[in-house]
Amino acid sequence: MNIEKVVVIGAGQMGTGIAQVMAQSGLHVILNDLSDEHVQKGLGVIYNQLQRDVKKGRKTEEEKQEILERIQLSSNLSEATDVQFVIEAATEKLEVKKQIFKYLDEIVPNGAILASNTSSISITEIAAVTKRPELVIGMHFFNPVPVMKLVEIIRGLATSDKTYEMIKSLTRTIEKEPVGVKDFPGFAANRILVPMINEAIFCIYEGVSTSEEIDNVMKLGMNHPMGPLQLADFIGLDTVLSIMEVLHDGYGDPKYRPCPLLQQYVKAGWLGKKTGRGFYIYEGGK
Ligand code: 3HC
Repeated sequence: MNIEKVVVIGAGQMGTGIAQVMAQSGLHVILNDLSDEHVQKGLGVIYNQLQRDVKKGRKTEEEKQEILERIQLSSNLSEATDVQFVIEAATEKLEVKKQIFKYLDEIVPNGAILASNTSSISITEIAAVTKRPELVIGMHFFNPVPVMKLVEIIRGLATSDKTYEMIKSLTRTIEKEPVGVKDFPGFAANRILVPMINEAIFCIYEGVSTSEEIDNVMKLGMNHPMGPLQLADFIGLDTVLSIMEVLHDGYGDPKYRPCPLLQQYVKAGWLGKKTGRGFYIYEGGK
């Protein structure tokens, strides 16, 4: 089965990026979310990004139009009946994902591959609610999706070799680099990245230095494009905490305990850039 038409579920930061890179590579994309308002907003994000590419001379106006024409909006998942591939980038809650995959399994054609962009939930567990676990796989993109080259490809316990090879090939089609990993908590990228961020938060908590200085250490000393605290704000502190909790629960090792300061920030609603306040204060934040 050739993958030509796909559904992207979730028109947030990750879903819009995924829809954009897929449409840029010639795939027909149905961008789905719960309401028309959500999908319209998502399309606006893609439009602005493409417009920026046109201004910078990276795309022509015609290319922009063609890409936009390949994106169809939908707030009704039952329309996803004639596709070969679905990627879910909805909220990071196991119950929500299970519900979506159970429903998808009933409506999408036999043989279609179902992927999740989850950053930490077990692919094996998501696959278990379907009758096609061999066709369920993880495809973990990185933010900002149009820029970051990596896609972690996560094999659940039952994912077939054929599904894995097809998704590796799809990843190259959309000009990204696949890295295959097994279904362990945090997979590989977040298992390495997020404890580093947590450790940086411990440095603030214990008074080692300020956020700016800790970020400078990693930017100037290790050539990271963003410091760990700036990156935490960019990812969202709720997401960072939830990944630490998955690592802590999954491995049962105290080295993964979330920093109490991170827990407090999340309780306070200081979730980073999206709420206007995290380790830094952003426009509109207090
Ligand atoms: N969307 C799309 N493109 C973007 C973008 C965005 N949000 N932000 C920046 N870009 C692109 C722009 O095209 C820009 O080029 P242009 O100015 O010519 O148009 C180019 O990136 C460079 O951007 P800037 O000059 O504004 O800023 P930087 O040079 O600092 O780059 C960055 C921005 C690419 C975000 C860089 O800071 C970076 O790489 N940061 C680290 C990102 C990272 O680690 N991401 C992984 C997060 S972890 C994750 O996603 C996993 C999850 O499970 C938690």
